[in-house]
Amino acid sequence: MIELLQLPKAELHLHIEGTLEPELAFELADRNRVDLPFASVDDLRSRYSFENLQSFLDLYYATMAALRTEDDFADLARAYVARAAAQGVRHAEVFFDPQAHARRGVPIEAVIDGLSAGLAAAGREHGVTGGLIMCFLRDLPVEDAEATLTSALPRAGALLGVGLDSAEVGNPPGRFAGVFRRAREAGLRTVAHAGEEAPAAYIWEALDVLGVERVDHGIRAVDDPRLLERLAADRVPLTVCPLSNLRLRAVGSLAEHPLARLLEAGVVATVNSDDPAYFGGYAGDNFAAAAEALGLGLETAELLARNSVEASFVPAERAAELLAEIDAWAARHRLS
Ligand code: ADE
Ligand code: ZN
Repeated sequence: MIELLQLPKAELHLHIEGTLEPELAFELADRNRVDLPFASVDDLRSRYSFENLQSFLDLYYATMAALRTEDDFADLARAYVARAAAQGVRHAEVFFDPQAHARRGVPIEAVIDGLSAGLAAAGREHGVTGGLIMCFLRDLPVEDAEATLTSALPRAGALLGVGLDSAEVGNPPGRFAGVFRRAREAGLRTVAHAGEEAPAAYIWEALDVLGVERVDHGIRAVDDPRLLERLAADRVPLTVCPLSNLRLRAVGSLAEHPLARLLEAGVVATVNSDDPAYFGGYAGDNFAAAAEALGLGLETAELLARNSVEASFVPAERAAELLAEIDAWAARHRLS
């Protein structure tokens, strides 16, 4: 088995709130005098068994009650970057959910400034570049998303782009078209979760109505040959999250995971961790688990890493550096 943890890679599908490990959640809750609805770290971890996306989201939103201040968000980002760097991540495009914090009274400025400071400080320390993607919660009214974008625009320079997440089934992407248009006009890149639990039609809508550049998850594309052709021809990347799909029962087992079929169809698929504190692994763990279950070799692992650079929003100069790191890693492994 090749050692994939250190393969240099970009992480493109990572919810920073989903990196909140139980130990840090309790530390922050104590610091902020917040009562978490769990008895202990072990009690919280014992609940990490999910039926579907919604059962996970319920716990995810409950646990983030520990996050209150700008410093909390900086600490969260620093902890993530240290863990990610130890698993070969060299660039991270990080999602955050400001609406989930606003409803607890946390101002968007504290969220953006804290995350930016944490990413920058830890990035310098560990050699990891990155940026922030602000997600809209698709199960809230569009007007909430519009107001969130308006409140974030003074800090648009701190954002790479916008995304769309939370409960998917019954919340197709199309009604967010106007918010996404405004975000694009403000110079922001666009991505959206689609085809995680809901069918391929949601992916078509994300492409044709929202106009996104990248699709998060997108695994249900395997059910639609015309969509696979479209994704491959236009080189629209998918940010696939194998351990998340397993833990949220979007797939029955990793051996049945569509990743290999997506690659065979010529789709620019990437491997990512989604909410690693909850799903049993960071980026390198996802590479290793998928490679083992699907029998992926060195060349496919290298392709996935290269795809992560192509699919990222990094400037050309940084992309060239990352590709050179991947080349060097692959050359070392071909020799060994
Ligand atoms: N928010 C955090 N993780 C998510 C996921 N896997 N799907 C949709 N929304 C999310
Ligand atoms: Zn996600």
